[in-house]
Amino acid sequence: MPIIAPSLLAANFLELGNACSMLNKSEAEWFHLDVMDGSFVPNISFGLPIIEQIRKATTKVCDVHLMIVSPENYISAFKKAGADILTVHYEACPELANTITKIKAEGMKAGVAINPNTDAAVLAPLIKEIDLVCVMSVYPGFGGQKFIETTYEKVLALKNIITNAGASTLIEIDGGVDANNAAALKKAGADVLVAGTTVFKAADPIAMISTLKQS
Ligand code: DX5
Ligand code: ZN
Repeated sequence: MPIIAPSLLAANFLELGNACSMLNKSEAEWFHLDVMDGSFVPNISFGLPIIEQIRKATTKVCDVHLMIVSPENYISAFKKAGADILTVHYEACPELANTITKIKAEGMKAGVAINPNTDAAVLAPLIKEIDLVCVMSVYPGFGGQKFIETTYEKVLALKNIITNAGASTLIEIDGGVDANNAAALKKAGADVLVAGTTVFKAADPIAMISTLKQS
């Protein structure tokens, strides 16, 4: 069964406390927290103060996805805010190996996200150091976009890289995940499914999380 990581980006921000309580009761293991800076992506979401509050509202894993330039400047700040996993973008990190080392030195798991037009092979040299690869199945910046179908091939390629290296890196899929593609993603090799709109716009979010979990 995949790990389910609902993205709070799709929640009603006036009722974040209720969203956290709902997720705490659900089968979701992780909270996926999307930080956007208006520079790496053409949108601005939320940052450190919101994550600090969410941290107080849950004991579940806080999976922080940084869609920002120069993420290496904010590693200790996100650790202090409560991140358990800190994911940076390959495209935003000219010194990726150093950035991964710093994230781990702070006691967090290190994630690396790749955009839809970035080849999985770019991560091969560092794969043993990476705890999680976040495969973007939409162009980052917005929730509610359509799933890009070529993601399956990328997951298969990435799975091969991980297996060949004897690594234990988790594969996370982010963007457009729903009840129709979840099982196929799991079959291709996904370990973690992020879902924003699918969960928060569902009539019964807890039931939708269970459905995704059964994939
Ligand atoms: C997109 C974010 C995603 C987003 C997913 O840039 O990284 O985590 O919240 O939202 P849905 O599930 O609605 O595509
Ligand atoms: Zn995300």
